Amino acid sequence: MSLPPWFTHDRFGMFIHWGLYALPARHEWVKNRERITDEDYDRYFRHFEPDLYDPRAWARAAKQAGMKYVVLTTKHHDGFCLWDSKLTDYTSVKTPIAKDLVAEFVEAVRAEGLRVGFYHSLIDWHHPDFVIDGLHPRRDDPPEEIERLNEGRDIARYRAYLHGQVEELLTHYGRIDYLFYDFSYKRGRHSEVFNAKGAEEWGSEELLALTRRLQPEIIVNDRLEIPGDLVTPEQYQPDKPMEVDGEPVVWEACQTLNGSWGYDRDNLNVKSVELLVRMLIDGVSKNGNMLLNVGPTGRGELDPVAVTTLEGIGDWMSRHARSIYGAGPSAHRAPVDARYTQRENRLYLHLFSWPFTHVHLPGLAGKVEYAQFLHDASEIHYREIEPSAMAQNTTLGGQPPGTLTLSLPVVRPDVAVPVVELFLREGA
Ligand code: GLC
Repeated sequence: MSLPPWFTHDRFGMFIHWGLYALPARHEWVKNRERITDEDYDRYFRHFEPDLYDPRAWARAAKQAGMKYVVLTTKHHDGFCLWDSKLTDYTSVKTPIAKDLVAEFVEAVRAEGLRVGFYHSLIDWHHPDFVIDGLHPRRDDPPEEIERLNEGRDIARYRAYLHGQVEELLTHYGRIDYLFYDFSYKRGRHSEVFNAKGAEEWGSEELLALTRRLQPEIIVNDRLEIPGDLVTPEQYQPDKPMEVDGEPVVWEACQTLNGSWGYDRDNLNVKSVELLVRMLIDGVSKNGNMLLNVGPTGRGELDPVAVTTLEGIGDWMSRHARSIYGAGPSAHRAPVDARYTQRENRLYLHLFSWPFTHVHLPGLAGKVEYAQFLHDASEIHYREIEPSAMAQNTTLGGQPPGTLTLSLPVVRPDVAVPVVELFLREGA
């Protein structure tokens, strides 16, 4: 089946990590990191009351930032479910908020004209049949205790639960465009842990078949340990278009605002708007998407840093989205500290650092028929400097054959990343 074209066109989505871990507010792995028992973690279940939850505000913030799809954690590794699952009582409906939060989310996202995505954890640190392994909060209990806890746990029963919950999610909420399963650890950096889990434990082949049967248009990631529709680099930028076995693949980098996915109150390691915009551009220039995360608070709001950051990105996107949507890599070679994206005959030069007066574009001589800044459509002059021309006093010296030289203003435009839109001649 071929990938629905919206995904590589739209390029930019919002990830939302939200659940009980918003209350401790120190990373969504808090139960694991601090080896919290079920009994102790239960305090967050008893106090989960996001009374300011307004998914329309989230959806509007996403839309205003230029994002086209929104992906919510239906369940994270702690096993807590944000929807009215009939297969467990460990859901938002049984907490003080007493609501199916997924239902409201789906409706709000659709109302803004955005696509709906679910994140769903394969891992479950709460389910009584999930066999304790080296990534589990109880991993450091004495071996006899782990053995005792694992007695009677049956991964086949957990697998039935996992599939049953996915079936609920993919049948009760209308069309779902995207599913981010997370994650398998039979291979890769956690493969050494005891009782590591992967395709076999999850029943990945059947789960993927079920997913596609219930939602034929859905896009599914690669974390079931079997190939999916896209690969998912996490918290790094690939250095070139991604490949698997030498073949180009669709990819999407998932990125955080501060290194944590869940709300992390005291974490000040915040990326600037400018850096995030550069990451988005860098991804598109290498044929990738960006899924940028927010971790709403325990009251249900986006925190002020997330709000202002999204506004800043939106400010840039409102004038520059043309270099992102429907754009991809260019065959032309960008100069240092710049990235090209291209859509048909329009080539977008993103300047990550601001040069003094000139920027030289290799190979573009004779190929450009017009150039302008993207943010204000003001004309940019360009010329070819004879390779043999001598540098003299105020005169620029010759450039390698084929080079096009743009003349830029001294003062950098006041936008997160300045972009020059180059209209290429036919056949260029
Ligand atoms: C990870 C983490 C996690 C986060 C996710 C996002 O694998 O376990 O907490 O949800 O990736 O990509």
